[in-house]
Amino acid sequence: MGEEAPEEMSTTEETLIVVKPDGVRRGLVGEIIGRFERKGLVIRRLRMQTLSKPQAEEFYSVHKEKPFFGELVAFITSGPVVGVVLSGRDAVATVRRMVGATKSWEAASGTIRGDLGLGLTDNTIHASDSSESFEHEEAAFFGKAPG
Ligand code: CMP
Repeated sequence: MGEEAPEEMSTTEETLIVVKPDGVRRGLVGEIIGRFERKGLVIRRLRMQTLSKPQAEEFYSVHKEKPFFGELVAFITSGPVVGVVLSGRDAVATVRRMVGATKSWEAASGTIRGDLGLGLTDNTIHASDSSESFEHEEAAFFGKAPG
């Protein structure tokens, strides 16, 4: 009996991406969601909305002590955003790799930030950095989970 190869040991999980106001204003929603669909990730939930200030503060609560928190909340509430729950193999890490580095000007070509922008606060897209963050962010973005 052979042991499973490491690549077979990854698990199906869920993550959340949010196309930020700059991405929506620039007409990049289809481009961004299309990349995830072509990769094989499956859309489980999708909503366009403008976040309220309390909702944004809750969504980004992990950053509340950071000097850029006010700017971050002001930006993310500045227009409609599109949140998408994606599922697939190792989805949290897979999506983070596809999104690229936080500073878009440093993000590698081939990644969403690397290909589509130059910003930091306006860095086109947010993606959960862990399953714990996903659960917190999904609740803040969508409210109570379905079922
Ligand atoms: P995001 O992945 O949405 O998570 C937190 C966000 O804070 C980050 O992307 C950036 O858009 C924003 N941000 C603004 N200023 C900074 C900074 N100096 N360092 C890191 N993130 C920043």
